[in-house]
Amino acid sequence: MDNKFKRTLITTALPYANGPVHIGHLAGVYVPADIYARYLRLQGREVLLIGGSDEHGVPITIRARKEGITPQDVVDRYHSLIKESFAGLGISFDIYSRTTSDVHAETASEFFRHIYDKGGFVEKSSMQFYDEGAGRFVTDRNVVGECPVCHAPGAYGDQCEKCGSSLSATELINPRCAETGNIPVLRETFHWYLPLDRWQPELQRWILDGHKEWRTNVYGQCKSWLDLGLQPRAVTRDLDWGIPVPVEGADGKVLYVWFDAPIGYISNTKELLPDSWERWWKDPETRIVNFIGKDNIVFHCIIFPAMLLAYGDGYQLPDNVPSNEFLNLEGDKISTSRNWAVWLHEYLRDFPGKQDVLRYVLTANAPETKDNDFTWADFQARNNNELVAVLGNFVNRALVLTHKYFDGRVPADGEPQDVDRQLAADLSAAVASLTESLEGFHFREALRQAMEIARLGNRYLQETEPWKLAKTDLARTGGILNTALQLCANLAVAFEPFMPFMSAKLAGMLGLGTISWDMLGRTDIIAAGTQLAAPELLFDKIEDEAVAAQLQRLADTKQANLEAAWRPAEQQPDVDFDTFCRSDLRVGTVLECARVPKADKLLRFLIDDGTGKPRTIVSGIAKSYPEPEALVGRQVLFIANLPARKLRGIESQGMLLSAEDKDGRLVLATVSDAVAPGAQVK
Ligand code: MF3
Ligand code: ZN
Repeated sequence: MDNKFKRTLITTALPYANGPVHIGHLAGVYVPADIYARYLRLQGREVLLIGGSDEHGVPITIRARKEGITPQDVVDRYHSLIKESFAGLGISFDIYSRTTSDVHAETASEFFRHIYDKGGFVEKSSMQFYDEGAGRFVTDRNVVGECPVCHAPGAYGDQCEKCGSSLSATELINPRCAETGNIPVLRETFHWYLPLDRWQPELQRWILDGHKEWRTNVYGQCKSWLDLGLQPRAVTRDLDWGIPVPVEGADGKVLYVWFDAPIGYISNTKELLPDSWERWWKDPETRIVNFIGKDNIVFHCIIFPAMLLAYGDGYQLPDNVPSNEFLNLEGDKISTSRNWAVWLHEYLRDFPGKQDVLRYVLTANAPETKDNDFTWADFQARNNNELVAVLGNFVNRALVLTHKYFDGRVPADGEPQDVDRQLAADLSAAVASLTESLEGFHFREALRQAMEIARLGNRYLQETEPWKLAKTDLARTGGILNTALQLCANLAVAFEPFMPFMSAKLAGMLGLGTISWDMLGRTDIIAAGTQLAAPELLFDKIEDEAVAAQLQRLADTKQANLEAAWRPAEQQPDVDFDTFCRSDLRVGTVLECARVPKADKLLRFLIDDGTGKPRTIVSGIAKSYPEPEALVGRQVLFIANLPARKLRGIESQGMLLSAEDKDGRLVLATVSDAVAPGAQVK
C-alpha cells in the first residue's frame, strides 16, 4: 500500500433493507471488503470497515403498502435480518448502522443545507406523472404501459425490458400507475439539481488522469459518462418517505435516496467515532476505498464525489472503488422478486458451521472481471476436492503424525535439507504473490496463492514420507513435522482474511496466540516443545443429499414462478363463422398409442374414426403422457380435414386437440360422455 496513507477507511455499499441479502451481495461487496479489512488489520494498519442498511427509496414504500405496514416496519424487519446474516458470516464491520438513524438524518440534512447555502444546487421545474386517485407523484419506474419502440405491453416508464430501450414515462402508450392501475396525469413540480457539469473538469482530472489504476470496468464506465458530458441530476423527490428537504417551501419533498445513502458512510463513521470521525474523512493521509457492485459505479465515482466537492471543507475523494460484476445462480440472474437466490439467513440455517465454505467458494469464483456463475455442484466440488482434500487433509496429517510419534509435542527442527530449502523458497514466492494480489484487490488470485501453501505442504509430506522414516530416524521425522506444523501456522495466517472461522480453529489447535501478517513465510512460528491440542477436522464432506435439497428448492421456485407468471393467451383476431365451420372436428377412440422412436416429444396414435379404417395421428404430447398405453380406449377430439403431413417418416392424418396448462403440460381434449367414433363436434 502506498505509504503516503496512514489509515484506510473501507466502505461497503449499503444494501436496501427491502429484502434479505443473498450470495450475490456477499460475493460482490461484503466478502471482498472483509478480506481486505482483515488483511490490513493483520498488517497492523489502522482500518475501519463501515456498513449499514439503505432504508429509503420508493420500493420500500411500495412493499409497505402491499403488506399493509409502515415503511419503518419494513426496514426494521430487514435491517435486523441483514445485520444478523452479515455477523453470522463473519463480516467484521466496525459498525453496521442504518439510514433511519438520528445521526444520519442530521448529517444528511446538514449536508444538503450546506451545499444549498453555498449555492451548489440549481432549482428547476418539470412535468411529472401524478396519481390523482392515490394523491401522489409516481416515479417513471412505477408507470407501465405499451413500449413506444417495440410495442410490447408492460414496459416500465424508465425502460422496456423486452427490447431494452431506455424510456421516460411520458413516452409510454396508454400509461398506467403500476400500483393502482390509475391513469396518471401530468403535473408541474420543481426539484433541486446537483449541477454535475460544474464538476466535470475536476472529476475528469481526478479519474481519467489520476486513477488509471482502477479496475477497467470502473474506469471505462466513468470515461463513457464523462465523454458524454455530465448533466445536472435531481437530488430531491416528491415522496413522504425519506429525509425531509431542509429548506423553506419544500413541503412534501425528501432527499433522493441516492443523495442520502452514500452520506450514510459518513454518518455511520460519526456514530462510531463521534469525536474523531473527521480524521477518517478529511485527512489526506486517510485512504478511502469503496467496495460496490457494478450497478453502483456512477453513484460512487461521479455523483457522490461531486457532492463531496460541492460540500468542500476538506472532504477527501475515494482512492479506489473496487467494483465487481454480477454473480448468477445456476445460470440465471439472481433476482429478489423472483426469489432466485441463495439467501444468507437460509444458508446459515441449512449449513451450520460452514460459513467459511461459502466465503471460500464465493471468493474462488468471485465475479471480479466478468459475471460468474454459482452452482451447487461447484460448491460441493470445491469443498470436497479443495477444502477437505487439500487444506484439511494436509493440516490433519501434520497434526495426527505429531500426536502419533511425539505425543502432540512440537518436535525440534533439524538441519535443513534440499527439500526443505526448496519448500522455504516456494513458500516465500507464494507469500509474496499472496500479498501482492491482496494489495491489488485481486482476491481470487490471492486465495489461489493461499491454497498453494497447502498444496506445498501436501507435496512436502509426500516427498519426505515421515511415516516411513519414523521407524529408522526419529530425529529427521521430527524435523519434517516441525516444518509441516510451521506451514500449518502459515496457513492459519494466510487464510484468516478469507476463512476466519477455520483460521481461529487452526490457530487454537496450534496454540498460536495473536497472529499477524509478518509471521508469513517464517518457519519458526511455533516453538519446539509446544503441546498441541487434540486435532479436529477443519472441514467435512458435503454429501449429495445436501446439494440435491438445494437444487430441489430452486426447481420448486422456478415452477412457482412459471405458474405465478401465467396469463391466458391473448385472444386471436376474429374469424368469420363460415371459415370456422369448414374445420371438421370429430371424436375418435384410441386403438393404439406408442412412443415414436428417437423423438422424445412425439406419440403415434391409431384412432377408430368410425370409418372402419383406423386413422394414424402423430401428436407432440409425449412429455405429458409418459405412459402412452394407458390412453388406449380413451375418446379424443381431432381435426379431420387438415392436409396430411409427415413427422419422423410417419404420415399424420389430422391433429389431436389438447389444452396447455400453466406449467406447459398438455392435456388431451375429450367428450364428457361416450359417443360413437366419428361423431362430429359442432
Ligand atoms: N442500496 C444501494 C444498492 O443496493 C447501494 C447504496 S450504496 C450507498 O444498490 F453508497 F449509497 F450507500
Ligand atoms: Zn420495447
